[in-house]
Amino acid sequence: MGSERLPDFASLTRAVRAELERGRERNVGLQLVCNLLTREVPYYDWFGFYFAVPVERLLVLGPFEGEPTNHVRIPYGTGICGQSAVSESTFLVSDVGAQENYLACSVHVRSEIVVPVFAGGAFAGQIDIDSHRVNAFSDADRAFLEGIAPDLAPFFPRI
Ligand code: SME
Repeated sequence: MGSERLPDFASLTRAVRAELERGRERNVGLQLVCNLLTREVPYYDWFGFYFAVPVERLLVLGPFEGEPTNHVRIPYGTGICGQSAVSESTFLVSDVGAQENYLACSVHVRSEIVVPVFAGGAFAGQIDIDSHRVNAFSDADRAFLEGIAPDLAPFFPRI
């Protein structure tokens, strides 16, 4: 992040909750959150959701903002997302070039964070963010994303 200031995550948390409420009726809350956070956080270059399909041990791509990706279905265990699905915990990757089990979404991506979302105590999917900067994500991003995950959970489908 260099000398750049951190985003105001407290006000972004309020903005996320407002977008979820605004999109509730048309069921577009998650898409509005993708749009908000790629617009407001300069180093969130790709922001999307993967939904869990537990019986198939598969992640399926949900709403996202950023370059289209080929990775619309990811088996548990494959890539950063699939590894996070197995561990059911946050996976912060400072330099994707140093990862062997990684699925490239775009050649521009340098770092990534994946945060699990739980609904009713069960793993329901995840938030996935790519950055074009190396080492873009800090504990402040992790705390912010883990903090909004419970707000997002009711909008994840039960597949
Ligand atoms: N990089 C991810 C795949 C998802 S795309 O980044 C959108 C991974 O390694 O699982």
